[in-house]
Amino acid sequence: MDISKLAASIAESPTVKLNAEATRLRAQGEAIVHFGIGEPKNKAPMNAIASAVEKLNSGEIKYAPSDGIPSLKKAIVQYTEKNYGRTVEPANVIVSDGAKHSISNLLYALINPGDQVIILAPYWVSYPEMVKMVNGVPIIVTPADGGFYPKLSEIEKVITSSTRAIIVNSPNNPSGAIFPDELVGQIVDLCEKKNIYLFMDDIYHKLIFDGKKIAPVYNFTKKDIESTNIVVINGISKTYGMTGFRIGWVVANRKLVKTITNIQSQTTTCNSPICQVAAEAALTGDQSCVDELVATIQKNRDTVIQGLRSIPGVKVEKPEGAFYCFPDFSTLNKDSMALAEFLLKKALVVTVPGKEFGMEGHLRISFAGAASEVADGIARIKWALDPNSPREIQIGTRKVVRDW
Ligand SMILES: Cc1ncc(COP(=O)(O)O)c(C=O)c1O
Repeated sequence: MDISKLAASIAESPTVKLNAEATRLRAQGEAIVHFGIGEPKNKAPMNAIASAVEKLNSGEIKYAPSDGIPSLKKAIVQYTEKNYGRTVEPANVIVSDGAKHSISNLLYALINPGDQVIILAPYWVSYPEMVKMVNGVPIIVTPADGGFYPKLSEIEKVITSSTRAIIVNSPNNPSGAIFPDELVGQIVDLCEKKNIYLFMDDIYHKLIFDGKKIAPVYNFTKKDIESTNIVVINGISKTYGMTGFRIGWVVANRKLVKTITNIQSQTTTCNSPICQVAAEAALTGDQSCVDELVATIQKNRDTVIQGLRSIPGVKVEKPEGAFYCFPDFSTLNKDSMALAEFLLKKALVVTVPGKEFGMEGHLRISFAGAASEVADGIARIKWALDPNSPREIQIGTRKVVRDW
């Protein structure tokens, strides 16, 4: 079968692929620990479920407005005011099928063939592929110091007349690092000076550890929402553990929102009203579930860090947010794909190779699962990589012997 050149150039999502492999092994009865997937284990808030059920029971489940139902847009306006200190209008908000779809729409709306989008390594695996899907050119900036965010000068160096946007994700997937406020301020200035869009992917902005506070991105501009180059992307997937509801949004100037509304009206038509009422309930209801999630993943983070630091040769930075860490295993194995495959085969632990996030030698470990599973998975990684480990261990019903 002939497929388009564009489609042929798009890589399979590695996290989805690994998930499929883990599901297959689990189905065979293997005791897999899954550090690969990026979603919290907690259940959706009860009030969100109740709203969705009420909507379903009404039997009135029809097309909704392409930009989102008014009550959800109002909830997002209030959320923006509360969390970002910025008053916006419903006309500045567009609801999409998850933040991934929001980013894809933004690129569709802004990128001409050959336009460049700056992506900061380590980056979320989907950014380069999404840029390529609109015939844009991903320009990757990798910090020379081996850290998890670049210096301003490293970004400045790659800007050309074709640069259209920079994507910043903080707290970051895959590193869990938070960009310093000063750096975010510098990037805002740079974008405004050069007339480049700044896509702030804030999908993890509520998942921050140790009580750390970060300045909302709008603090760094004097411009109003209609003239600023800042675009905020957010959603309910991570904060409320509602990945399956597929609701995300963009806050931007009216013209961009209108453009994306046109795109959506000709592609998806609208989001499911059932998911939209659930999202509205999550945003406007009791927020204690978010604090509980943060407390759980912070504890998991500590377990992961302690375990990884006890393995000779592993370097690991303490994540400040999200639910990932991105240890450097390069002194043990520079080839992250080979290492991920080794850990899956020998220790039945799924990780994601750092190569996919633009940084070889690392593995991404997602610690959003149950505490016992996280502890078990880290112990298995230690067993597999630490030469001082006992010769054999029990994994599920299997006795595994170190023969390497
Ligand atoms: C950095 C980042 N942005 C966006 C998304 C997409 O989230 P959603 O489920 O809302 O599409 C993810 C999900 O993994 C992510 O890690």
